[in-house]
Amino acid sequence: MSPLDDLPLDPEAIRLRAATLDPEHARARVGWLVPELRRHNRLYHVGNAPEIDDRSYDLLYRELELLEERFPDLVREDSPTRRVGDQPVAELLPFPHRQPMLSLSNAFSDEELREFDARCHRFLGDLAPTVINYVVEAKLDGLAIELVYEGGLLTGAGSRGDGQVGEDVTHNVRTIRAVPTRLLVDDPPARVDIRGEVFFDLAGFARMNEARESAGKKPFENPRNAAAGTVRQLDPTVAASRPLVFTAHSFGDTGDVDLPDTHLAQLELVHGWGLPINPINRRLPGIEAVIARIAELQELRHTLPYEIDGAVVKVDDIRLQRELGFVTRSPRWATAYKYPPPQVSTRLQDVLFSVGRTGAVTPVALLTPVRVGGVTVSRATLHNADQLTRLDLRHGDAVRVERAGDVIPQVVEVVPEEGRETRDPVAYPDRCPECGTELVQEEDKAVITCPNTLSCPAQLRAALLHWGSRYAMDIDGLGTKLVDQLLAQGLVHRVSDLYDLTVAQLAALDRMAEKSAENLITALERSKDQSLARALVALGIPEVGEATARDLANHFGSLDRIADASEADLAEVFGIAERVAHLVRGFFDDPRHTEEIARLRADGVAFPEVETTDPSPTSEAVAKKTFVLTGTLPTLARSEAKELIQARGGKVTGSVSKKTDYVVVGENPGSKHTRAEELGIPILDEDGLKQLLER
Ligand code: IVH
Repeated sequence: MSPLDDLPLDPEAIRLRAATLDPEHARARVGWLVPELRRHNRLYHVGNAPEIDDRSYDLLYRELELLEERFPDLVREDSPTRRVGDQPVAELLPFPHRQPMLSLSNAFSDEELREFDARCHRFLGDLAPTVINYVVEAKLDGLAIELVYEGGLLTGAGSRGDGQVGEDVTHNVRTIRAVPTRLLVDDPPARVDIRGEVFFDLAGFARMNEARESAGKKPFENPRNAAAGTVRQLDPTVAASRPLVFTAHSFGDTGDVDLPDTHLAQLELVHGWGLPINPINRRLPGIEAVIARIAELQELRHTLPYEIDGAVVKVDDIRLQRELGFVTRSPRWATAYKYPPPQVSTRLQDVLFSVGRTGAVTPVALLTPVRVGGVTVSRATLHNADQLTRLDLRHGDAVRVERAGDVIPQVVEVVPEEGRETRDPVAYPDRCPECGTELVQEEDKAVITCPNTLSCPAQLRAALLHWGSRYAMDIDGLGTKLVDQLLAQGLVHRVSDLYDLTVAQLAALDRMAEKSAENLITALERSKDQSLARALVALGIPEVGEATARDLANHFGSLDRIADASEADLAEVFGIAERVAHLVRGFFDDPRHTEEIARLRADGVAFPEVETTDPSPTSEAVAKKTFVLTGTLPTLARSEAKELIQARGGKVTGSVSKKTDYVVVGENPGSKHTRAEELGIPILDEDGLKQLLER
């Protein structure tokens, strides 16, 4: 097979021959090595049936590298060595998707899976077969990537981003050995977009972390974040050195490729082209079989060589998929079943009361460290006073801790133990642990706060960091280390003091030099002209985030008009709830806040006015209207109807009042229907809603 006799697998022999081979033989050898390496790659990653061991592969690869070094004109576009571009990219460029990359709706119980099936049947109507065939796949916990193949060659790879435009990560995805750079197909399509998951399997992740630790580097906490971080690197040699893998699970634009008419057969086709697919994918007749398979997978889960966070259920028949179509951001023909988040038991060591930016005092459980869902947890939130009461938490209790995805871990329950009643209950302190001010609890509210808003050190620290944060005044260099020093040195007692700082004061601080001090002063100067919306965010008005700030700025046009608006005026603004209107009014009613705003203005913070605009209504009939949904609609899930209404600028609320514009009624409606009739509010069925949406 090989144009040369095979050498003993000895690095020195291989080096020698590569250094002496004449051009003619070198060409032939490269012509053999490239497809041979590609074949071994495929056997390893796609077929899971390697013929040679890793060392032999590495030696063949080395030989190719040496020959390509000597004869650069022998380097082929599809050479495995070309996977690693040597040049880092300067930035990640936008990567538009020809077809939007959607996400999946979720199901959290068997009941919700049955509802999903019922919805498919309802929506398909006469087209629905008696039993719908589904494919059940593992929900891989990595990140979705689109691969673009043109004429059979991998020409691009992008992340999902917002679904329309992702980031171009071709340079990194090319380094993943499981991603073929050339499709194994005689007559390759002009272009096809294939999607799948990039992730670390458990063995690769462990290997990588061991290597990091022996190199004195910090190991990664969990495979998902590590994969995302790796794919977004600018320098492709980083990704090349980490064992990322890939599994195909869906398609983007497939152009005029003649594809089979079921999802599973389509995956099998691209498997034949050299793309890895998951061997545990199964086709199942009807939702009960799906439910049984998901239960099976949940058992299997712990024996799989990679992490999964659920199962994905897809309608297998492509024709039915087309009929079912999409709602805003997810297909109607698929859903993700999420496994309950992992829980573990550990022991409560202490409770710390942490004071947030708004003064809310939150109990935080300090725990004997445990591993939960791939990360080590030593703190968990206890939320508020109500939660302490509900748990009847006592010092030294054994507790169950839960961690759902990237969410902060929480204590879910106390493990019953004999004699725990004799332990001391965990109770809130009377005074703020940071400034000693007496804490207050508003009536009927679970939140306990420190009322010393402007000078409690914990609140001031948080307020300063918030003021400078990326979403607010965006002040480069105003990080925790600096803020802590400013507070410790007594240089800053309120946010506005930031603008009185001098280069000399800053340069005298630890780890600051003349240059960094000057940079910070420039950043502070620049921040004075930030937009009104950003300045509103920066002020830290409770519940006013980016979207609300923008709504307020666009509606009123100036800080003074917002500060003067009555609670009713504020609540008039579309998108602003009454509760938020109350909080905004309360903020400006506090003289300490108005004084601080005056100081900021005196320091030159501009709070620039903007031209007032109302959000441009995309549909006159729906924009700014308030809807209430009740009962089961024939084809739309509640969440789908809600998304459709919101996408056109409408609002969906939970209860019927005089302010409600329409009540959408499905099967078995509740009291909301009766209430709408009493108040004389227009009632729509699903068709009526759809007509309105299309107007
Ligand atoms: S199909 C329109 N299949 O889950 C459906 N996605 O929330 C497109 N994922 O962004 C995705 N395993 O990153 C599909 N077997 C699987 C999956 C899977 C994991 C991820 C994917 C996607 C997210 C959807």
